[in-house]
Amino acid sequence: MGLQVSEEVPQDYLSEVQHILFHEDFMALEEYTQHQWTNRFMHSVNVSYLSWFIARKLGCDASAAARAGLLHDFCLFDFKEETPEGEHPAFYHPKAAAENSVRTFQISAREEEAIRSHMFPLGPMPKNKEAWIITLADKVCATMEFCHVAIALSRKNRLVVGGASA
Ligand SMILES: [Fe+2]
Ligand SMILES: [Fe+2]
Repeated sequence: MGLQVSEEVPQDYLSEVQHILFHEDFMALEEYTQHQWTNRFMHSVNVSYLSWFIARKLGCDASAAARAGLLHDFCLFDFKEETPEGEHPAFYHPKAAAENSVRTFQISAREEEAIRSHMFPLGPMPKNKEAWIITLADKVCATMEFCHVAIALSRKNRLVVGGASA
């Protein structure tokens, strides 16, 4: 699987996330449908980009927002399946994503915290600004995706999964 990234995608955004974006474990998120219309890979990219954009505007840590946004749903299981201990997926998947992200990408404590709280008010309250931004961006992207509206990097073929180039 390749990725086609248009020149419209800011280089300073890409430089923060490309080690994750092109990692084969992360690319495997493309196999999972998300919000009916999209897949978990594109949903994650959109949450990441929107979080990065907002964090920059607000003078927050845009790198942390971009990375935690990208990894907030980094779980390789179908959210409709039963979880290992029977916990509801809404509460289970942020913890699983945080653990997977720490193990695979050695993210910071601040990024891990943001991933763990992204489902607020389901689960813990965000404890830092970037965590609040990701919680908001996730809900905005999910709403747009449910409405079949292309947002952020889904728009205008800015980032296309499955292209020949990487
Ligand atoms: Fe999530
Ligand atoms: Fe999400």
